[in-house]
Amino acid sequence: MPDFLLDPDVVFLNHGSFGACPRQVFDEYQRWQRELERQPVRFLQRELPGLLADARLQVAHYLGARPTEIVFVPNPTFAANEIARSLPMGPGDEVLMTDHEYGACRFAFQFAAQQKGFRVVEQAIPLPVESNEAIVDTFWQGVTEHTKLIFISQITSPTALTLPVAQICQRAKEAGILTMVDGAHAPGQIDVHLGDLGADFYTATCHKWLCAPKGSGIFYVREDRQSLVEPLVVGWGWGPNKTFHRENEFLEHHEWLGTYDPAAYLAVPAAIAWQKKTMTDEVRHRSQDLARAAVAMAAEIEGIERVHPDSFFRQMGLIDVTAKYVDADMLKSRLYDEYRIEAPVVRWKDRIFVRVSTHAYTRQDHIETLVRALQEI
Ligand SMILES: Cc1ncc(COP(=O)(O)O)c(C=O)c1O
Repeated sequence: MPDFLLDPDVVFLNHGSFGACPRQVFDEYQRWQRELERQPVRFLQRELPGLLADARLQVAHYLGARPTEIVFVPNPTFAANEIARSLPMGPGDEVLMTDHEYGACRFAFQFAAQQKGFRVVEQAIPLPVESNEAIVDTFWQGVTEHTKLIFISQITSPTALTLPVAQICQRAKEAGILTMVDGAHAPGQIDVHLGDLGADFYTATCHKWLCAPKGSGIFYVREDRQSLVEPLVVGWGWGPNKTFHRENEFLEHHEWLGTYDPAAYLAVPAAIAWQKKTMTDEVRHRSQDLARAAVAMAAEIEGIERVHPDSFFRQMGLIDVTAKYVDADMLKSRLYDEYRIEAPVVRWKDRIFVRVSTHAYTRQDHIETLVRALQEI
């Protein structure tokens, strides 16, 4: 069993919210913090540019992008804000998203829409879904001649659904519409190749399924789109006193946003190495099987139903408990207080879902505890 720092007394079925970090990766993170504190000036001024460039190279390689197209950011909320605020959109323009998007990113676009006068349109993707083709067709009903940008999750947060983002990016490209994919749940859970995906903009967390320390995200902007993106935070990287990458404004605008602790970013290569070594096909399949078993076993309880066919999810399964419980908060509290189960209970539209995440540390008895709790509560 891989060595995570999780409390062994908790049945941790919520990797999806903030991830969890293996001891080895966390040690590397703290090693970087100690290095910094030994000589902060040497570390931050002289060593950091090279160290970040190396970490960026490794993450770019892992995600199939050019190193000049990827920067570290704290999280996808940051990247969504940057795109929402910098793209030249105004009255008459529309940003299209699904009704499954992550709240904070949706807010980023709604806020910018209020300021700049464009409209955010949410296209419903009703559940259950049937096929990728049907999802693309349904989503495309939201496209109009005013659509300037599509913002879409690769794996959705409230509904744990894998969306056919490559097909959507392809169709958008043909229609001359820009695309931003929110891959918060993708790296570490599914193979990502940004060069092939075809998105103009992409963001993800490294701290979720890649198991890097918290606050490590990536932001990808395809080379030919970088001139569209303005820095969200203006600092030393802007103006005449450029610091690290005089030849590349995109990197320049993102690598020194004021003093910060870069240890989480520098530990991302260790997380990638851990992932490659530990998350073998066997471990990954075992973890997927546990998520599927959780859904199947729970669906045998009266009043509980499965939502997605197996092919639409991996290490995050969704259980529809709408007919059994009316109070999502009560269920969440009782799962934790009485069974020590940490699992999100999500309200989505008029439905209540329990989202079950599984990872290398998840055991069969964790799933059995959840199913027993759902039977008993
Ligand atoms: C789909 C999705 N997008 C974005 C995020 C990013 O969250 P944050 O910016 O807080 O890391 C999450 C986090 O749960 C998510 O599930």
